[in-house]
This record gives sequence, C-alpha cells and structure tokens, in this order.
Amino acid sequence: MIYRYNVRMFGDLFRWFSMNLRYFGKPPWDTGQSPPELIEFIQNHPTGRALDIGCGTGTNCLTLAEAGWHTAGVDIAWKALRKARTRFAERGLAGDFHAGSVVNFNARAGAFDLVLDIGCFHSLSSSAKTVYTGNIVRWLKPNGYFLIYGHRSCPKKPNQTWLTEQDIERFSDAFTLEYRKDSTDRWGRETIWLLFKKPGQ
Ligand SMILES: C[S@@+](CC[C@H](N)C(=O)[O-])C[C@H]1O[C@@H](n2cnc3c(N)ncnc32)[C@H](O)[C@@H]1O
Repeated sequence: MIYRYNVRMFGDLFRWFSMNLRYFGKPPWDTGQSPPELIEFIQNHPTGRALDIGCGTGTNCLTLAEAGWHTAGVDIAWKALRKARTRFAERGLAGDFHAGSVVNFNARAGAFDLVLDIGCFHSLSSSAKTVYTGNIVRWLKPNGYFLIYGHRSCPKKPNQTWLTEQDIERFSDAFTLEYRKDSTDRWGRETIWLLFKKPGQ
C-alpha cells in the first residue's frame, strides 16, 4: 500500500517535472487550434459545464468558453496553466483552472455535461487509469458526454502501453459508445477518437 502510494507520488513528481520542462519550449501538440472533432461536438450539442483533463495552455477550454460553455481545466503543468489563465483574462472570459494531477482532482458528482481529454489519459499508468475512469463516471451528469483522443501505438516508443482495447471496454462498461474513429497520424502513430455518453437515470 505504502509502496504503491510512493510509486504514484514519484510518478506524479516525474510527470510534473517533465511536463513543465516541455512547456518551457513549444510542445508539438500546442498548436493553438482545436480539432474538428471538438468543433463538431460543440456544433451538435447544447452548452453546459465542461472539464478539460490535461488542458495544457487552454486552447480547447477557450474554444468551449467562446461557444458559451462554463469551462474548467486541470493540468499537472503549472507553466501551461499560467498561459491558459492569461489567455482567458485577456479575453475577459471566466475559466476555472486547477493545477495538479487528474488522479488527485476533486469534483462533485454530476458536475459536468462534458469531460474532454485530448492526449492525457493514454500516458497514465494502469493504476492511474483505474482511478481516472471511476472519477469521470462520477463527475459526469446522467446523459453527459466523454470525448477522448489518444494514441494507440507509437513507432518511437513500441514498448509503451497507450490507450488499449481494455481501456475502451472499461469505458464501455459505464458509457454508451456513440462513435469511434481510428486513424494514423503523420508520425505513424495509431490514434483514436471516442465519444461516449453516460446513461440517463
Ligand atoms: C499531449 S498534451 C495535450 C494538451 C491539451 N489537451 C491540448 O490538446 O493542447 C497532454 C497534457 O496532459 C497533461 N498531463 C499529463 N499527465 C497529467 C496528469 N496526471 N494530470 C493532469 N494533467 C496531466 C500534460 O501536462 C499536458 O498538458
């Protein structure tokens, strides 16, 4: 138990350090553009409360907030969150940003109509993925949505586990799968978009 706790603490510390370091430069994912899958979701669903997990510098939070969503973001990299907060302040928008690991993030049950994750879940350890899955099931309202993008494999890191079929099955135990889009990006990584809906009560 203590061992597992320490491993998690050490893992988070390493992640905190490495992610902040990435944001001293310009990480490749930080394009300032929201993907068409998010835009399409926004166009086809009413506004509500959204949580962006691993929100980075807030690009997708901004897109949601500008479309009328109440937006919260959580990220382990304070450097990225500082930029997200500044971008919101510059536009006079309200955003609720939390620094820390998603595994330790606290939200009330049924707080969100949408949980978004673009590129965070796939890098978590299997124990963190279990905590994460339980959390999002709790945080979403009945009929709420979970929109996730992740990598399934990466030629440069062939031994790393990414977003697996088992992860998808675990999400499918709690949610209804609305769509699944498998693809390969220009770096040869297998990628996936999934949209889930939580059943109503
Ligand atoms: C690939 S980046 C994507 C950022 C953002 N979603 C975007 O599309 O620009 C993954 C983000 O997840 C954050 N992250 C990684 N592990 C995390 C954790 N355990 N808790 C919270 N955020 C985490 C990183 O700091 C990084 O900002």
